[in-house]
This record gives sequence, structure tokens and C-alpha cells, in this order.
Amino acid sequence: MVALAVAAAGCEQDETRPNYEYAPDMVSSVPYDSFAPNPNTPDGKTLLGPAKGTVPRGFQPLHLAAGPEAAVQAGQELKNPYPASPEVLARGQTAFLRYCSPCHGSGGLGDGLVTARFPMPPSLLAEHAKGLPDGRIFHIITTGQGLMPAHGSQVAPEDRWKIVHYLRTLQNPARTARKDMP
Ligand code: HEC
Repeated sequence: MVALAVAAAGCEQDETRPNYEYAPDMVSSVPYDSFAPNPNTPDGKTLLGPAKGTVPRGFQPLHLAAGPEAAVQAGQELKNPYPASPEVLARGQTAFLRYCSPCHGSGGLGDGLVTARFPMPPSLLAEHAKGLPDGRIFHIITTGQGLMPAHGSQVAPEDRWKIVHYLRTLQNPARTARKDMP
């Protein structure tokens, strides 16, 4: 009966007044908020930044800057670490359709949806694109080129290399791609 009375007393009928609180410590947070200033940390912020020189697990920093010279250098230095396989091509196709087809079109012809309002990119099936080394295409995806924005923050390095494989399939249809996707 006592427990019932206590429980019932917690149900305040007047909605404009707060209910009784039991152990209010749990309601009002005592710790510093994540983005609040904090007098106890060296830089005065509650959320500490990463230690100098560290990179997130799985992150592969690219030692090359943006720009055409670095793109040429990337073409000479970087090799696709993934051998082509049906799984690699399938993932490359998925990533290409997701990240590249809005501009480049699902077939790479440069006729993506946004070209109604965005300048048409060059065909990725043209001789020029066919002649670009894998590493240079990886660099173009990572840092962008001309009007093409950088995709390094959206597309994982692994997916970039798989896109390169898939692109080669588009350029050379003799290499097989998945047929069950547009
Ligand atoms: C916002 C639209 C847009 C997206 C998204 C986009 N591109 Fe581009 N891309 C362009 C444009 C525009 C150019 C021409 C850039 C220039 O040189 O001015 C280009 C150029 C390129 C080139 C160089 C072609 C050549 O012959 O020089 C490659 C390779 C390329 N893109 C690959 C990709 C890949 C792979 C993706 C997906 C990860 C992608 N692009 C996503 C717009 C885009």
C-alpha cells in the first residue's frame, strides 16, 4: 500500500507543474557537456583532440597534395593494391553508381542526372581517360580535378581502387561486370 501510494503521488495531474523527482542526480547532468569550455583540460575544451601525429585506425593518409603535378606523380607511384575479381568489380560498380554516376552517368559517358544544371564532365570512355594510369584516377577521385570536387572524404580508399577497376571494365567491356545492375 505504501509503495502504491508513493507511486501514485508521482503522477502529478497538473501538467504545468513538474512531477516529483526521485534521485534527481540522474535528471540534471553534472559532467561537462561535450562541447562546453572546460577549465581542467590543457586546451580548455571538454572533448580532447587527437594526439599530434596520430591518424584514425584504417585511415591511409595520401602523401600527395591536390593538383595536376601531384596527379601525374600519383600515376607513376601508386599501384592498385586489389586484384580484379568479381567481388571487387561488384563493389566498384556499387560505389561508382553511388558516387560518380550522378555526374558521369551510369555508363561513364558524362551524361549523369546533374548535367541538366552542371557542366557535362568528359566521357570516361574517351581515349584520354583510358590513358590515365590507375594511380592518377585514384588521385583525381581523392582530391578532385578542375570542376570535379574531391571525394576523399566520402569514398573510402578501398572503394576508390575498386571504382578504378570497375572503370576499366566500362572502358573495356571485354572485362565482365555484373549484369544485374543498371
Ligand atoms: C559533381 C560531379 C562529379 C562527380 C560526383 C564526379 N565527377 Fe569526375 N569529373 C567531373 C568533371 C566536371 C570533370 C572534368 C574536370 C575538369 O578537368 O575540369 C571530371 C573528371 C573526371 C576524371 C578525369 C577525366 C579526364 O579525361 O580527364 C575522372 C577519371 C573522373 N572524373 C572520375 C570520377 C570518379 C571515379 C567519380 C566517382 C568517385 C567522379 N569522377 C565523380 C565531375 C564529377
